[in-house]
Amino acid sequence: MVTGASGGLGEAISVELARRGADLVLTARRRELLVDLAARTGGEVVVADLADRLDVDRLTEEALGCDVLVLNAGVGNDGPIREATSDGADLVIDVNLRAPIQMALAFVQHALDERRRAAVVTVGSLSGIVATPNTRMYNATKFGLRGFTLSLHQDLLDTPVHASLVAPGFIRDAGMFADNDIDLPPGVRTKSPQDVADAVVRAITVGGAEVFVAPPELRAAAKFSGLLPGLSASLQRRLGVAEKTSGR
Ligand SMILES: NC(=O)c1ccc[n+]([C@@H]2O[C@H](COP(=O)([O-])OP(=O)(O)OC[C@H]3O[C@@H](n4cnc5c(N)ncnc54)[C@H](OP(=O)(O)O)[C@@H]3O)[C@@H](O)[C@H]2O)c1
Repeated sequence: MVTGASGGLGEAISVELARRGADLVLTARRRELLVDLAARTGGEVVVADLADRLDVDRLTEEALGCDVLVLNAGVGNDGPIREATSDGADLVIDVNLRAPIQMALAFVQHALDERRRAAVVTVGSLSGIVATPNTRMYNATKFGLRGFTLSLHQDLLDTPVHASLVAPGFIRDAGMFADNDIDLPPGVRTKSPQDVADAVVRAITVGGAEVFVAPPELRAAAKFSGLLPGLSASLQRRLGVAEKTSGR
């Protein structure tokens, strides 16, 4: 099962998994896009809104029949602090954190009960390591998803089930970063949706706690920023990051 399969990175992940012979369950809210994709990849379409708890319960039941769960769906609709609302915060928590946690826990427990091999992959972000201005709920949920997945990874060591986090940096051509048309500082390199799909395949087949999809220099900068958030904030201020992210 791939969540957020209706576009962006989820579509690329689904196409790659189908190419490798997976029988897919494709899920998101936009039925027409899922039906179009299913015509290319085969598989079942399940329309569900991850902000709707009844839909998440239904989707979780559906996921129990799968061998692999790719929790890719995500939203990033932050913006200037004075425009923030608690409803907006709830939506990001529901989609990026609550739904994937509910689905992953039920999926893993079911596979352990059945003593069968299974893999759960969550799609995080470098925003799970480094905070930027105007992205507070996206950061909050991606930090949280990273902590959840890395702990779950340890809980599952020595079992036939594994959990891995795939953490993309800036992805060109498709997905929320490409759609937002944000200018990157000079020299910052991007990766492709296919790179993300390949990383998901690696996470499913090899396991490992965390698979990054970012050039080495960006990965290093993210880790450094995570260790020294004050210095990172000063550098980002000099680079004018707040102006670039204020329209998200
Ligand atoms: N693109 C990047 O550069 C980048 C970088 C780092 C991490 N990521 C992560 O990669 C994942 C995929 O992002 P993307 O770039 O492909 O974004 P995207 O193009 O905006 O796609 C998001 C997907 O999530 C689904 N979704 C959104 N809200 C939903 C809801 N309430 N219920 C069910 N599905 C919902 C959307 O489908 P519907 O609208 O049809 O529901 C869509 O398929 C996200 O977790 C994101 O945080 C992306």
